[in-house]
Amino acid sequence: MGVARGFGVDIGGSGIKGCEVDLEVGALAGERLRIPTPSPSSPEAVAEVVAEIVDRFGWTGPLGVTLPAVVKRGVARSAANIDKAWIGTDAAALFAKRLGRPESDVVVLNDADAAGIAEISYGRTDDREGVVVLLTFGTGIGSALFLDGELVPNTEFGHLEIDGHDAETRAAASVKEEKDLSWEDWARRVSRYINGLEDLIWPDLIIAGGGVSKKADKWLPLLDVRTKVVAAQLRNDAGIVGAAVAARQVTGA
Ligand code: BGC
Repeated sequence: MGVARGFGVDIGGSGIKGCEVDLEVGALAGERLRIPTPSPSSPEAVAEVVAEIVDRFGWTGPLGVTLPAVVKRGVARSAANIDKAWIGTDAAALFAKRLGRPESDVVVLNDADAAGIAEISYGRTDDREGVVVLLTFGTGIGSALFLDGELVPNTEFGHLEIDGHDAETRAAASVKEEKDLSWEDWARRVSRYINGLEDLIWPDLIIAGGGVSKKADKWLPLLDVRTKVVAAQLRNDAGIVGAAVAARQVTGA
């Protein structure tokens, strides 16, 4: 009754998740639906799944959709962990067409930017002034940069070159799993990565997100970095929540 609702879909390398979002409190408004990402994760195949999720909820309002890619004006410009066919695809137009909606109803944004928007909007607010970076540790490393709460979109800090390597190939959470690294060994890699990042942008606060933020007590205390690092509060649903917030901001709904 009078509750502000939105809808978000979070597209990842392994799963596509969507749900109605309670925009008052910044939380899922019910059980989310997760469907495995089709393989290959071509734009058309992914759009089918997005439509299936939206239809299952019977959602007819504006919606936000995340991609693990740089997204400029609805168009995907990179594709690090999804099918390369996304590069150059007008994702907003594709989803709108498949859903039979006007393009103005669909907002597409980078997944880490969405997670950051959720965290900045609904997480702890006492220390979010200045330069704040949210990093998502998952299959890759995503980043969202904020200055006094204002997003600078499409930063790709996960691809910083550290010791001659693309950082996410050394310090993503997936690398910990693949190489069966101990928390100590992985935290050493993450520290090295954050040291490189903090030398370049000197953040006031780093928020660690992604699935591993659930186990923050195991690795945050092991980090050897100069910036304060805190665990994200919204955890796995941040992408969905942030997408819904972005849709409301852009469509004004
Ligand atoms: C992509 C980013 C994305 C991140 C997390 C990186 O490989 O380049 O755009 O935000 O993975 O999914």
